[in-house]
Amino acid sequence: MSNMLIISATKNSNFELSIGIKNYIEDQKKFNCEVVSLEDFSLPLYTPTLEAVYKKDKSFPKNIQRSKELICTSNAMIWCGPEYNGGISPIFTNAIAWISRATEDWKEGFKDKHSLICTSSGGNGKNFIKGFKLQLGYLGSIVFERSLIQTNAKKIDKKEFSSVLDDFCENVLK
Ligand SMILES: Cc1cc2nc3c(=O)[nH]c(=O)nc-3n(C[C@H](O)[C@H](O)[C@H](O)COP(=O)(O)O)c2cc1C
Repeated sequence: MSNMLIISATKNSNFELSIGIKNYIEDQKKFNCEVVSLEDFSLPLYTPTLEAVYKKDKSFPKNIQRSKELICTSNAMIWCGPEYNGGISPIFTNAIAWISRATEDWKEGFKDKHSLICTSSGGNGKNFIKGFKLQLGYLGSIVFERSLIQTNAKKIDKKEFSSVLDDFCENVLK
């Protein structure tokens, strides 16, 4: 079975959304699903200076290695993160920066992999989705056109939830 990694940027509403997605996909019995919250990894802020320190020691810290392995061994990814200031959650871009530096080929974790972007944001999270689609696409991912969007005011419609997830999973398995 293929590995579906569900990555939450937080431990709050985006994590709850991630768990809901995991439960739904697991019921279909077509994927091994794992949910992680990047908050639990406490990755340091990426700086070229810190990278040079790790490279001098010839090893990245365990939490960077672990996040790299999780991404690299996944066959498809579902990202759940909030919009912050009209953009991408910094916890996502920070993790991606480390993973792109800890792999031989910077696109290794993402290239040719299906990704679905989901958000639980204050508003509609459209700027996050737009920006993150561009970033994942730049890394070679096949980003699913549709997204799951939950706002403070509006939960995701049940039919929309299953339709997006069913279509995404079908695409991954094609
Ligand atoms: C620094 C910061 C900036 C934010 N900017 C936006 C924004 O631009 N658009 C939006 O819809 N919500 C924004 N929000 C609200 C979050 O998207 C919202 O609280 C979200 O539910 C947080 O996700 P969580 O529950 O997983 O922590 C912002 C929140 C914070 C802390």
